[in-house]
Amino acid sequence: MNPQQLRDTATTLVAGDKGLLAMDESNPTCNRRFAKLGIPQTEEMRRAYREMIVTTPGLGESISGAILFDETIRQQKKDGTPFVKAIADMGIIPGIKVDTGAKDLAGHPGEKITEGLDGLRDRLAEYSQMGARFAKWRAVIVVGDGIPSRASIEANAQALARYAALCQEAGLVPVVEPEVLMDGDHNLERCREATEEVLRTVFDQLYTQRVMLEGMILKPNMVLPGLTCPKQETVDEVADATVRCLLRSVPAAVPGIAFLSGGQSAELASARLNAMNVRFKSRLPWALAFSFARAIQQPALEIWQGDDTHALPAQRALYHRASCNRAARRGEYSAAMENTPQFARPGA
Ligand code: G3H
Repeated sequence: MNPQQLRDTATTLVAGDKGLLAMDESNPTCNRRFAKLGIPQTEEMRRAYREMIVTTPGLGESISGAILFDETIRQQKKDGTPFVKAIADMGIIPGIKVDTGAKDLAGHPGEKITEGLDGLRDRLAEYSQMGARFAKWRAVIVVGDGIPSRASIEANAQALARYAALCQEAGLVPVVEPEVLMDGDHNLERCREATEEVLRTVFDQLYTQRVMLEGMILKPNMVLPGLTCPKQETVDEVADATVRCLLRSVPAAVPGIAFLSGGQSAELASARLNAMNVRFKSRLPWALAFSFARAIQQPALEIWQGDDTHALPAQRALYHRASCNRAARRGEYSAAMENTPQFARPGA
């Protein structure tokens, strides 16, 4: 491990108002999203879709790092250029998802444990060889009747910390993602309570496993009411609840917090990130950034539809969302940006 290199990579990932693009959907998740739009669920279609993304002109203006899936990091553009090189040529740091998915937690109906620690040291060495400089592991915490349990929080936090320590040993910055899911009708306070307990436990475990906080990125959920909760707080109320929760649970040594979008609409995710930066940016110890998958990709995927003749408008949509989120980092995003094509780099 080279501590300075880890610090530099982590700082670069959240520098200059940029954020991360999560394009690391596993094959089943990617196929599910393709199926909804009638796109064939084949390896070639997944490759073509990712080629559309990594050839978006100007993407590096707003995106600092791209998280790939194992299949994608081994793929190339049609002209033979490896995706990792295409990404790096745009000034974007290549990253890799290294967990192998959330499975049922034994003895705890409805709860999940993320797997992937077996053989991780060897896989990290291979990914590093391929050009990855950071990695991601997603833990899933479900809110429901009597859950999350201590067992699920502790087991997931320990796995996250063990993964993070292995990443740093291999010279990769760990993106530590404990996601409290939005599914359900729980209210914002329930989400806050669960998120705070999870984050406190995760940082306790990171400390126990000797993870260097300056060389990591936290990727949490925002503090939100459940998707089917009748009371949906305002953008400013979500921003306040989220930042208050983070201030109580995330050490100042962490350079950046890059939110997942978790099923919010793309516009709401931008608006909420914007509100946090407008209201708190000058008073926070860490950068508040984004590491969205759906909230950047979904509009582009719906335009692309598996047809490369739609690549240009799809790239415009991708560039637009990435630019909106960059504006949100500066606290300069507004809903008006959605109606006028402010950001139009591809093919412009
Ligand atoms: O692990 C999940 C992704 O990295 C973030 O995806 O923004 O669609 O929630 P999302």
